[in-house]
Amino acid sequence: MEILDCMKKRRSVRSFSDQKVSDEIISDMLEAARLAPSGGNGQSWMFGVIRDETLKNELAVAAGEQMWIARAPVVIACCAVLNEDLSNVDEDDFGLIVNHTRFGKEFVDYVYQYPDKRMSNIFWNNGVPAIPGEHMFLVATCHGLNACWIGYLDVRKASEILNLPDDVVCLYLMPVGYADQPIKEIERKSAEEISFVDRWK
Ligand SMILES: Cc1cc2nc3c(=O)[nH]c(=O)nc-3n(C[C@H](O)[C@H](O)[C@H](O)COP(=O)(O)O)c2cc1C
Repeated sequence: MEILDCMKKRRSVRSFSDQKVSDEIISDMLEAARLAPSGGNGQSWMFGVIRDETLKNELAVAAGEQMWIARAPVVIACCAVLNEDLSNVDEDDFGLIVNHTRFGKEFVDYVYQYPDKRMSNIFWNNGVPAIPGEHMFLVATCHGLNACWIGYLDVRKASEILNLPDDVVCLYLMPVGYADQPIKEIERKSAEEISFVDRWK
């Protein structure tokens, strides 16, 4: 399937049939995650493949009681590895220089020095699983599956449920399965509405 066709087919689904998701499809999805780009090629992500019914139920509760999540045959736990102590970064650290340039020194230093070190690190790494996760979503779509990003999540609770070590945090869930209902069309902005050329007029 061409990539644009796959993107056109990709939709969020919240109701799944009992059909199992094969290990081959999961390994294709993980392969797609592995190939994703990351700042400095850090690849500081981790993906849990959750099939256990009890765990899926507990995760659904941690996701603001979106209990439909537990009815997906597989839930992917999209995690970041917090491999840096933000409060102890050298002034010439390239990542710090980049962040100062992007967001300004005052804000970055505030977040880096925030007393709850783990929380500031979690916040800072919020986007880590996004690109590899979307690669996975698209590969699932190519295989005729559907999924949904879940960001409404108590990330500390989810990480606890999955018994993750302190330096790994589950930031998003992605229930994956076969849709059991037709998917409704939704409105999309036009290309003109979401783009500009040269300077903003
Ligand atoms: C970062 C992110 C977080 C999301 N969190 C949730 C969520 O917690 N629950 C949910 O039902 N949908 C969630 N969604 C799905 C969006 O509602 C959905 O992508 C959007 O309505 C567009 O529909 P589509 O994915 O079918 O194109 C999330 C999507 C993204 C990208």
